[in-house]
Amino acid sequence: AVPADFAARVVAWQRTHGRHGLPWQGTRDAYRIWLSEIMLQQTQVSAVLAYYARFLERFPTVQDLAAAAPDDVMAAWAGLGYYSRARNLHRCAQIVVAEHGGMFPREAEQLAALPGIGRSTAAAIAAFSAGARAAILDGNVKRVFARAFGIEGFPGDKRVEDLMWRHAEAALPDSGIEAYTQGLMDLGAMVCVRGRPACLATPAVCPLHDICRARAEGITDRLPAPRPR
Ligand code: ADE
Repeated sequence: AVPADFAARVVAWQRTHGRHGLPWQGTRDAYRIWLSEIMLQQTQVSAVLAYYARFLERFPTVQDLAAAAPDDVMAAWAGLGYYSRARNLHRCAQIVVAEHGGMFPREAEQLAALPGIGRSTAAAIAAFSAGARAAILDGNVKRVFARAFGIEGFPGDKRVEDLMWRHAEAALPDSGIEAYTQGLMDLGAMVCVRGRPACLATPAVCPLHDICRARAEGITDRLPAPRPR
């Protein structure tokens, strides 16, 4: 079960210790938020920053992106890798313009029907752009949940992933979804890292240190479980 104050801990920690001032924060512009989430899917924040700024200079609106030549989109993406992301990005912009009047849907379920937007990315976009109460579950967040809730098994297994989604839904706060969503991402990137997580330090730097199942059992190094072989 999810401790009653789980989300409140994450929200309070994010507000004082999380990442602030990133260029896609402090806006509700769904185009800017969507672009950041696609770039951040397989690329670290530090690498995304320069591409993000240049891309928005080149394509300030979803209409500009939709109308662009494919080669120009690929040129702006060049260096970020995983080029199917750029092709899906372009297709998604064209669908948003042609079928949604240039407005991104506000609900996660509708966002997830667009190219390149999976369930977790859809939830992040809906939370950041519309305050929607939607659960995320990316690689970093799987690690936080596996440890905090003591979820055994390889997170790539469907049954384990389904169990994590149920925990993710149960953990959602009634308010503060933006800080909560960002806080889970920040914990996974800054504290609950692979290798040597920062919860093992003194003084404790993790807001979940006294409720974390893996820490209590001394098995942070075994969770999340690796792919079975
Ligand atoms: N990774 C995925 N989404 C992110 C975000 N909004 N901020 C920082 N890292 C992220």
